[in-house]
Amino acid sequence: MCGIVGYIGDKNASPILLEALRKLEYRGYDSAGIAVISAKKKLLVRKIKGRLSNLDLLVQQNPVEGNCGIGHTRWATHGEPSDLNSHPHTDVSQSIAVVHNGIIENHAQLRSWLERHQVSFASQTDSEVIAHLIDFHYNGDLLLAVRETIKRLEGSYAIAVVCSEHPQMMVVARKDSPLVIGRCEHANLVASDVPPLLSHTRDVQYLEDLDVAVITSEDVQIYNLDGERLEREVQHIEWDMEAAEKCGFEHFMLKEICEQPKALKDTLRARFKEEGLVFPQGVEALLKGAKHLLITGCGTAYHAGMVASYVIEQVASIPVEVVIASELRYRPLIKKEGEVCLLISQSGETADTIATLRMLKELGIPTLALTNVIGCTISREADWTIYTQAGPEIAVASTKAFTTQLLCLFTIAALLAKQDSAALLQALENLPSQAQLLLDRQEDIQRFAASQFNKTKVFFMGRLVDFAISLESALKLKEISYTHSEAFAAGELKHGPIALVDTSTLVVALCTQPTLYAKMDSNIKEVKARGATALVITFEHVHTFDDTADTIIRLPQTHPLFSPVLSVIVSQLYAYYCSVLKGNDPDKPRNLAKSVTVE
Ligand code: AGP
Repeated sequence: MCGIVGYIGDKNASPILLEALRKLEYRGYDSAGIAVISAKKKLLVRKIKGRLSNLDLLVQQNPVEGNCGIGHTRWATHGEPSDLNSHPHTDVSQSIAVVHNGIIENHAQLRSWLERHQVSFASQTDSEVIAHLIDFHYNGDLLLAVRETIKRLEGSYAIAVVCSEHPQMMVVARKDSPLVIGRCEHANLVASDVPPLLSHTRDVQYLEDLDVAVITSEDVQIYNLDGERLEREVQHIEWDMEAAEKCGFEHFMLKEICEQPKALKDTLRARFKEEGLVFPQGVEALLKGAKHLLITGCGTAYHAGMVASYVIEQVASIPVEVVIASELRYRPLIKKEGEVCLLISQSGETADTIATLRMLKELGIPTLALTNVIGCTISREADWTIYTQAGPEIAVASTKAFTTQLLCLFTIAALLAKQDSAALLQALENLPSQAQLLLDRQEDIQRFAASQFNKTKVFFMGRLVDFAISLESALKLKEISYTHSEAFAAGELKHGPIALVDTSTLVVALCTQPTLYAKMDSNIKEVKARGATALVITFEHVHTFDDTADTIIRLPQTHPLFSPVLSVIVSQLYAYYCSVLKGNDPDKPRNLAKSVTVE
């Protein structure tokens, strides 16, 4: 979704803003712009449709100089991608500029009201009303004007505002959309996410909902809507630039796939202590007291929940229900006795997951967040949080966040296990090195992708956890290679999907559940009989599929319930190589954003 940056300090703002916007490219965008206040107190705006290279060129041709500025990458929601709809938006006199991330739900009413007050609009966006409203309330006090404006906005926003009359100050605010302030010497920055700040500082302040901050080069003052001062802790980010850079890899996605052994190890290290499995305070008692688990999330996070439902039910005999967050928030929820809800979100900023969290809290259901971003909205609002230790995930397609979510969920299963927990723990400890073994053999997958990337129809099938990974595998492939891919429970084959199978189909059969090998073998024979090519993903030493499969990719042997951590790496690599072979950019797939902060 949209990205916001802002800089105020002793340097020229525009190169810093452009560089910072580059670090937000991963969020997805279709236009970009900056606004800088010049030394002569003039507001200079440059904005353009398309990639950041277009904006670079525009700024080269028409430079802007000044020590205070804001920037934006836009992901179109209201109004097509165009120069005019790009941010920053300004008031009529072009003295106030605003960048906005989120959706102003009452923009139509505000627009009519402003038009009745002779305001003319330049764009079709919901965001432009903010600039005009600030101007309407402005009488020399920018902070007050922003506070009064915010009181009239419904919906979600992170905004950064500059005004030509105040070249030494920037005002920012947020509600339901992330905003982080980076604290430096003689300069301060603001951004929607941490990566743009890292080349300047690792000391950050996360704004909370309805906070408004006045930022100068030397100071940050945070207020509530009534103008009362607030304190927000300065936090030190542990990870560094290297974690947010490609470090010689062609793409972030490949780097993040290859980082999985380390991310898994770090995630385990946070849970495995000498005294056994350790969880944040209160979480162990919460989980052990749960009689029913409800798991929710979106996309890949939902798939992690689905895997967990099979694993937890099997080892802990606790009923687990998994519901997509965008569905759960609109479902009549019947609260069950002893119910605990686990919300999974890499970013911790997904709009549907946040809305679901708030609904659950209103119902009085205890909430436990599983997220990767310290200080994110979901972690701040949930009753308890467990952090995955994946490090920053930049590529839109989630990889290491998913496997670390799985690992955390498996540690929960081990904690609740009725028996064999020592064997489960041993299997978990082996997963990082087994993931590395698989990655060391990634050329096999690359070669297979080279022979199949032009397939127009790819089906993934499996049973139990293999079905959940089929869903995740199909999502990965469609996201970045734009191949039509579907997943189904293998037992459903004869209930419909087989009608689509022909010689142009690749069927990927995930076969890691020993009690179901024979059933899977029959399913593979059925698709082969219709001319499909069959790739089987199974464990080393399994020979059930030797005569049926066209190709077999073998996984190091682990506990069958934990196979998803390994089998999904095959699908991630397959999707990655197909994407590259098709000439796509896997890091920035079309139409997609890294974190979906609007509904
Ligand atoms: C994953 O590859 C997708 N980009 C997407 O499904 C993602 O997992 C989903 O939007 C949820 O995001 P979250 O984990 O940040 O909440």
